[in-house]
Amino acid sequence: HSGFSASACFVSPFWNICTFFSLLFQNVPYGRYASSVYGFPVNVKFAWFIQEMPSLFLPLALVLWTSSAKTSLLPNQLLIAMFLCHYFQRTLIYPFLIRGGKPTPFASFALAFVFCIYNGYMQIRYLSHYAEYPAYWVSHPCFIAGSCLWLVGWLMNIHSDHILRNLRKPGETGYKIPRGGMFQYVSGANFLGEITEWAGFALAAHSIHSSAFAIFTTVVLTSRAMAHHKWYINKFEDYPKSRKALIPFVI
Ligand SMILES: NC(=O)c1ccc[n+]([C@@H]2O[C@H](COP(=O)([O-])OP(=O)(O)OC[C@H]3O[C@@H](n4cnc5c(N)ncnc54)[C@H](OP(=O)(O)O)[C@@H]3O)[C@@H](O)[C@H]2O)c1
Repeated sequence: HSGFSASACFVSPFWNICTFFSLLFQNVPYGRYASSVYGFPVNVKFAWFIQEMPSLFLPLALVLWTSSAKTSLLPNQLLIAMFLCHYFQRTLIYPFLIRGGKPTPFASFALAFVFCIYNGYMQIRYLSHYAEYPAYWVSHPCFIAGSCLWLVGWLMNIHSDHILRNLRKPGETGYKIPRGGMFQYVSGANFLGEITEWAGFALAAHSIHSSAFAIFTTVVLTSRAMAHHKWYINKFEDYPKSRKALIPFVI
């Protein structure tokens, strides 16, 4: 247990710090920032399906095929269900709905794949084999508030990705100004949803492992929301002036 937690304590902050500093110099090169410098192009639907797959199937294998002492406990079950729910949608539904997405450079695809192996294993190995919550944890304010935030964030993320997808008619590949939902307030509505989701999960799970994932998501997606916002302002003269990058009315 201590060895497993120690790896989360040291590897995850190291990964987060490296990511933070590299994002100061370079947008993660996929989507509108894709570049052939980062390897040959991988079909976008194939890339999302394969790269996210480890975060769905590794957790399922851990829960179903290993003798996991903690999976009979309700808090652990609910937290595992939140994680699986997200990755079920992200792996088996999201990739096949994408319209006209740019091919993903191989390096971005490979990094995302490695991240999903590491994170999927770390989150669910901890919840299925080690995490011990008191019996009252599911009625604790942190668990209730965290679960509600997780749900609100997940719905905001799915709704915002739905708005983006419908900006394009089948066959189109260009960009338009997103409107409606949280896009009325921020350019990175899908990213705000995802950050809220994993921050809620971390609050409900109260662990180093879940906090490391929430911090990673915040670092990566804050940078992407800022970059998209700047990109929209440069591209569209009529871009709504009151819209912020990530946090409504703030930044
Ligand atoms: N947890 C994490 O660390 C993490 C990291 C990365 C992503 N994600 C999640 O993965 C999902 C996708 O992320 P992403 O970075 O690919 O999001 P994105 O850059 O907003 O793109 C999402 C999709 O919508 C299209 N699109 C975006 N803006 C558009 C516009 N103005 N007009 C027309 N089409 C537009 C994109 O096409 P193009 O490909 O042609 O640009 C792409 O297919 C999000 O829900 C995000 O939260 C999570």
